[in-house]
Amino acid sequence: MNNNDAVLEIRNIFSDREPKAYVRSFGCQLNCSDGEKIKGLLGEMGCTFTDDEKDADIIILNTCAVRENAEDRVFGIIGSMKKLKELKPSLIIGISGCMTAQSHIAEKIRKSYPQVDFVMGTYAINALPKLLLDCLNGVKFSADISEYDDFSETVPQIRDSSFKASVPIMFGCNNFCTYCIVPYVRGRERSRRSQDIISEVKQLVRDGYKEIMLLGQNVNSYGNDRECEMSFPQLLRAINDIEGDFIIRFMSSHPKDASKELIDAIFDCEKAAKHLHLPVQSGSDEMLKRMNRRYTAEKYLEIVDYIRSRDSDFSLTTDIIVGFPNESDEDFEATLDLIKRVKYDNIYSFIYSKRTGTKAAEIDDHTDEETKGQRMRRLLDIQRDISTEGYKRFIGRKMRVLVDDVSKKREGYVSGKSDEGMSVEFEGSSSLIGQFAEVEITDAMNWAVIGKMV
Ligand code: SAH
Ligand code: SF4
Ligand code: F3S
Repeated sequence: MNNNDAVLEIRNIFSDREPKAYVRSFGCQLNCSDGEKIKGLLGEMGCTFTDDEKDADIIILNTCAVRENAEDRVFGIIGSMKKLKELKPSLIIGISGCMTAQSHIAEKIRKSYPQVDFVMGTYAINALPKLLLDCLNGVKFSADISEYDDFSETVPQIRDSSFKASVPIMFGCNNFCTYCIVPYVRGRERSRRSQDIISEVKQLVRDGYKEIMLLGQNVNSYGNDRECEMSFPQLLRAINDIEGDFIIRFMSSHPKDASKELIDAIFDCEKAAKHLHLPVQSGSDEMLKRMNRRYTAEKYLEIVDYIRSRDSDFSLTTDIIVGFPNESDEDFEATLDLIKRVKYDNIYSFIYSKRTGTKAAEIDDHTDEETKGQRMRRLLDIQRDISTEGYKRFIGRKMRVLVDDVSKKREGYVSGKSDEGMSVEFEGSSSLIGQFAEVEITDAMNWAVIGKMV
């Protein structure tokens, strides 16, 4: 049976039930984008949606495997769903995403969590109708974690936002950083055709979307797997040429492939965010080598210097891993030196987490957990001061802000992101959500800048 037949058959079964589905995505924006496709397929099969798992007839947890605590959290949630299943035996529970793409995890779920009806790997979103049909036909447990060659351009999508859209431009990763599970659970790089991406963005802009977030594990290698395809800087320029009032953001950008051509495109494209997320991971060449990052701190700083030579205030953010196996005090100091030199507006820092199957998992690690914790706290303290100081440069400046929510910290305020990627809060009503606003910055906190609408 093919997918379309499965969809039709399920629609028939569901026509008198209108089942309610609860879909929850964990992890990165690529995973959330998969979650929107899972919802699209469920919608096509006749489901409605609920935010309350107790109310659901179908529950899908779309999981992340990047660190152990992400997995532990999901196992906790799956455990707690046993009760729901007892109360409603017809409840269907499916687990998808990066966790289930690891066969040992799929096996653990099958063995130890009988409340789960099916698991589906990251390639298998298209297989959802067939997996669901199995459940409806009484099959106790089904799984599809196979690696398909291709991805579908035609999976329907129910987007979480009406003004911010994620657009994957490529799937998978070829880099095999030694700590990272992603290449094992997402497979090799597969770029979408640029004309498909451009048509999708055109349609989104026509539909009123104001932020287009281009996604890939390393957008800088976009097109390398396709003959005669554009490079990422060319794609950025092509999307910039689409008419309309919108901002283009993208992530992530691997420093080994961050070229002058990319930086020039960011400056030339008036719709591109004036911000770059450039994950460095460590400031120590020894660590970078053992992480298989394929650049040195010096090479990284050359890119930073080129960006800052064009705009000394340019906003940069990064990812840091603290406590990679056998990271010494000197290695860690090199990271601190680097963050003091670059002056990031924000860093996302993670304590190294051992991932079964990766190269780094085989290293005998002699650094104790307490040292790692202390390093993390020092890093955060230093970065907090850097951010607070750095944000002051925006005071007096006007920023364009895409408003995305009401402020969680101040009554009567709204919050959003500026073209520089800064979190901005200002007095205003919720009717501004989804719109651009011109804001003059009046104050800097260590988590955001504050302003007045002009
Ligand atoms: N492709 C992106 C990263 C995706 S994962 C890139 O290369 O920039 C997001 C971040 O999680 C990574 O940048 C890294 O800092 C962190 N990370 C990945 N694997 C990790 C691990 N095993 N332990 C701790 N942090 C990890
Ligand atoms: Fe993981 Fe490295 Fe690929 Fe990023 S580039 S997803 S860190 S292997
Ligand atoms: Fe997590 Fe998979 Fe993304 S491991 S970070 S959800 S690619």
